[in-house]
Amino acid sequence: MNDFEYANAPESKAIANISPNYGLFIGGKFVDPKKGKSFSTINPATEELLSKVGYGDKSDIDAAVRSARAAYTKIWSKMPAKERGKYLYRIARIMQERAREFAVVETLDNGKPIRESRDTDIPLAAAHFFYHAGWADKLEYAGFGSKPKPLGVVGQIIPWNFPLLMLAWKIAPALAAGNTVVLKPAETTPLTALLFAEVCQQAGLPDGVVNIVTGDGITGAALVNHPDINKVAFTGSTEVGKAIARSISATKKTATLELGGKAANLVFEDAAVDEAVEGIINGIFFNQGHVCCAGSRLIIQENVADEVLEKLKKRMSLIRVGDPMDKNTDLGAINSKEQLNKIEEISKTGDAEGANRWSPDVKLPTKGFWYPPTIFTGVTQSHRIAREEIFGPVLSVLTFRTPAEAIEKANNTMYGLSAGIWSDKGSKVLWAAKQLKAGVIWSNTFNKFDPASPFGGYKESGWGREGGRHGLAGYLTSDSKVNK
Ligand code: NAI
Ligand code: MG
Repeated sequence: MNDFEYANAPESKAIANISPNYGLFIGGKFVDPKKGKSFSTINPATEELLSKVGYGDKSDIDAAVRSARAAYTKIWSKMPAKERGKYLYRIARIMQERAREFAVVETLDNGKPIRESRDTDIPLAAAHFFYHAGWADKLEYAGFGSKPKPLGVVGQIIPWNFPLLMLAWKIAPALAAGNTVVLKPAETTPLTALLFAEVCQQAGLPDGVVNIVTGDGITGAALVNHPDINKVAFTGSTEVGKAIARSISATKKTATLELGGKAANLVFEDAAVDEAVEGIINGIFFNQGHVCCAGSRLIIQENVADEVLEKLKKRMSLIRVGDPMDKNTDLGAINSKEQLNKIEEISKTGDAEGANRWSPDVKLPTKGFWYPPTIFTGVTQSHRIAREEIFGPVLSVLTFRTPAEAIEKANNTMYGLSAGIWSDKGSKVLWAAKQLKAGVIWSNTFNKFDPASPFGGYKESGWGREGGRHGLAGYLTSDSKVNK
């Protein structure tokens, strides 16, 4: 496509005031890690160093949990719920005021297009704080008995695909319910969490209610195993989720786990094809496919498969890949070298097992981590690319002849996080939605999120729900569990 060129439209880096070093946020202050260790976070689109961030070990986790416990006992659990709500509203408003700064920092640290961090991640993160601020003084009407109580101190561990949004999904309901938190961001994307720590200071949040300890899996494991946390909230790989479930099994700690997915996106013969194509694109190429609920298995009714694939390839040729800071960019950088290696490794098994690879002709930048938008056709259910989460811009395409076969193929997975249905017939959509074993089902759309809507999975996709009234349940305990 040479007849529709875009001029560059770069967002300014100047608005992001990234410090060359960050400490850990414990007890309302930035403090140096006890052992003085740090690690680098880079921009995956350029491999440039962005900042050196404190590496928290067991002793730092212990200090953070102590600070969260003190804040819980002395301040947060005693504060009238209405006052707690005010802090959450204040945080939400400051996040909106500083939205542009957050978007730029997120894109630099993560590699996602500025258009997505600006229009999706940051507004949704603020919306989660607004939504939960409203719940803080209405918990006795949420259906968990007349006196629902917080759990205490919650350990929260988040991944790198939606760094600030996952922080909001974790911290907003925890605080609204009256808990205090220690949160560990992912090692490749710690910066927006540290900016959020500044927002907590700016909002005058009492010291110790939110603590942020940066580090890696060892830091995360120290948090999970700390004897004085009451609950673990985790989003990430199924492998680590299982390890967490094992390590808390002999304790009184509770857990919510939001893990992987391999969502089926079903296109029936009566679907509006052009709309379905937009939904397929959004389902797998949004956020470079680093999405647990990505529509990574496209399952098309055989008699319309040629038409859908032809239009899909044409649409894929229009995807603009490159500088995430350019407002025209659709597909940004892969978050890390490790993730790029994983995408390459699993995709190669698609070639080896006999599927047919296709990518549009795109020029990838020479520095940084990149993968072109890719589809595999001729995929069968036994192929690795049909079973495993690739977590990249790679779509596996299968076909079906009858609606019953569509459902059987869609449910033939160890996951069950999300699914999509494309059909013009309301009755068919409802029939299919009832059979699909997935926590979230979109009809004639994909990847739509709202703080009021619960999110979570079946089978190996996790335990519990986040968002909405259901999500609050994971942060409360009640004397009467009648309505739970
Ligand atoms: P991961 O599960 O290792 O990392 C997620 C978070 O858990 C990070 O903050 C990490 O530091 C922490 N962590 C790692 N090991 C831990 C442990 N033993 N105890 C406590 N915390 C620990 O995921 P990773 O390695 O970044 O990605 C690997 C694959 O996981 C991806 O390719 C993708 O398939 C999947 N994934 C799924 C996500 C989702 O949203 N469901 C998010 C990120 C990754
Ligand atoms: Mg980074």
